[in-house]
Amino acid sequence: MNLSKLAMSLGQSATLKLNELANNLKAEGKPVIHLGGGEPEEKIPRGALEESGKMLDAGFVRYTPTSGTAALKKEIAAYTELHYGVKPGPKNIVAASGAKQAIYNFLVAVVDPGDEVIFPAPYWVSYPEMVKLAYGVPVAVKPREGELLAKASDIEARITSRTKAILLNSPNNPSGQVYPEDFIRRMVEICEARGVYLLMDDIYNRLVFDGLKAPSAFTFSKKPLNESHVVSINGVSKTFSMTGYRIGWSVANEALTQAMVKVQAQVSSCPSALSQTAAAGALREGNGFVETLRGGLEKKRDTMVAELSKLKKVKLHRPQGTFYSFPDFSAYEKDSTKLSNLLLDKAMVVAVPGVEFGLEGHLRLSYCGAEKDIIEGVGRIRKALD
Ligand SMILES: Cc1ncc(COP(=O)(O)O)c(C=O)c1O
Repeated sequence: MNLSKLAMSLGQSATLKLNELANNLKAEGKPVIHLGGGEPEEKIPRGALEESGKMLDAGFVRYTPTSGTAALKKEIAAYTELHYGVKPGPKNIVAASGAKQAIYNFLVAVVDPGDEVIFPAPYWVSYPEMVKLAYGVPVAVKPREGELLAKASDIEARITSRTKAILLNSPNNPSGQVYPEDFIRRMVEICEARGVYLLMDDIYNRLVFDGLKAPSAFTFSKKPLNESHVVSINGVSKTFSMTGYRIGWSVANEALTQAMVKVQAQVSSCPSALSQTAAAGALREGNGFVETLRGGLEKKRDTMVAELSKLKKVKLHRPQGTFYSFPDFSAYEKDSTKLSNLLLDKAMVVAVPGVEFGLEGHLRLSYCGAEKDIIEGVGRIRKALD
């Protein structure tokens, strides 16, 4: 077929593949329960709908500046100031087609062939493949036995002269754990001392429970934003339930931002004008929507934890945020792919194998769907394993 070595080296996204499978089974009328999803079921914020409606009425949906419209960047700057305590200017921001493209822009902007990018396991399924897409070498650091958060010293020990960046996602997909303040502070110190970028994937940073807050890495930086090695990625996909709009963004120093703008200009020109307008509307609408979503997810988290506790041999670290849990099923079956296949076969429940996130023996079970599906889905898992 004459395909590139790069294309052939890439794995498929396990989560997107399972999403498709769940949708196909549902379309065939099978009684499948999808606990593998990655998006809230809520409708989009009113403000997003109104703004996109206005643009459609006007009949002009054109290219925008590569890094995003002034209106959206103004909202992103205000949002960043409110939630991170740092005020970016327009030259620090790139609006992208999803947080995923913002991460891709970053990787292409900083990674030379053979450079290393470190991230702790369990990690978001796309990190290793995205690093490979930038011709980099992914370096995953596992947590110690029985834990879900890697130690800062174990991460530091993997830094070499080829390390360009460390990627951190907190609260974490798939574990739902929030990295504590001490850890984030230490990572900022390490990165600033070693001249390594710290990319904070903050896509779930508002979806945190039990009165906790996900610490902002900017708070611990000793440098002004334009000299800082801290980069924040965020977007409207998760916190505003707008996955299909595909709007994310990066906040970074000006020199790095300029390089990211060049990358984006040659890859996609700009994110969709219609989606940018909608995202600005959502951000303007503010806290109310996110707080309702967050509160609902906290209740669903409680349901998931209560149902999983009925499986006596499952070990669970209570999720502190996101809409994922990452229970350890190894007492039942160590091979998570085998277990995921068995649950689909015997119970018609979709669950993502932990090995896809770099940690064998676990399954990722989402609680972003309907409460009754969480109860029924975990109930079916229990019956299948009993
Ligand atoms: C940790 C993490 N980062 C980034 C993304 C991508 O977000 P977006 O849909 O805005 O591209 C996801 C989506 O699942 C995610 O879980």
